[in-house]
Amino acid sequence: MVPSRPDMVRHFTEISSVYRSVRTTDREPVERIARELDGLAVPRGADIGCGAGRYTLLMFGAIPNLFLTCVDANPAMLEQTDELLRANGVDGFETRRSTAEDLELEPGRYDFVSSFNAVHHFDFPDFLRRSRDGLAEDGRLFVYTRLPEHNARSIWGRFFPGFIEKETRLLTLGDLYAAIDDTPGLWFAAATCLRYRRTAPIDRLIEQARNRHYSTFSLYEPDAFEEALVAFRAAVERRFADTVEWYDENILVHAVRADG
Ligand SMILES: C[S@@+](CC[C@H](N)C(=O)[O-])C[C@H]1O[C@@H](n2cnc3c(N)ncnc32)[C@H](O)[C@@H]1O
Repeated sequence: MVPSRPDMVRHFTEISSVYRSVRTTDREPVERIARELDGLAVPRGADIGCGAGRYTLLMFGAIPNLFLTCVDANPAMLEQTDELLRANGVDGFETRRSTAEDLELEPGRYDFVSSFNAVHHFDFPDFLRRSRDGLAEDGRLFVYTRLPEHNARSIWGRFFPGFIEKETRLLTLGDLYAAIDDTPGLWFAAATCLRYRRTAPIDRLIEQARNRHYSTFSLYEPDAFEEALVAFRAAVERRFADTVEWYDENILVHAVRADG
């Protein structure tokens, strides 16, 4: 198996048990994916980098008769997904430990492959080739991610010192398009920007950052993180009287397997 970065393995293992409670989960991308799959009697999918399973569970609520292969490199995350789905009475799934780069899906068996908030951790071209091989003709690939400009306009990008400079892994829309275009058998179908108005008390934001809800925070040395956190609180409190308000943005990229 291709080794994941050791600091990221540690990061995701440490936060696996609190991950769902410190992230904000959006229904819109899942509803859009469900609409694209409408008409399939028993859709079979694979969610890569499934984490603690928050999007996986939403997919079971939105896509009737779904069977899902939940893939992640991190066993602690897979355990969380397994527990969450079982606790919610879902049994149409299997978990598989694999990196995106080593992914071995049964060739041509999948109606869709999805990945939420994870492709910046992958070798993206490898992930695309592996996903394509698993997809049936006309099978769909869905990638939900934030772009560098989304990151810069977020509350963290605007107010948390060093956040933009440290987060160099995010792919641009051009990168996403070019990599799909360079993958024979995959066709770029659409990219939809989704924008959400958020509000929260400053203490909730501090709690999220302390729990390293974005892995970007794990790229700081401990002292530098504490210093940045103090500066973040001060800057946000100067700008907002009580409730903090901002917009989060993400993109949903949709590609299709077509060999013709
Ligand atoms: C930011 S989390 C997103 C989890 C989930 N999709 C969500 O949105 O809640 C990224 C996930 O990708 C996994 N991951 C990181 N690198 C990976 C790789 N190379 N192959 C497969 N999974 C990986 C991590 O273990 C983690 O669970």
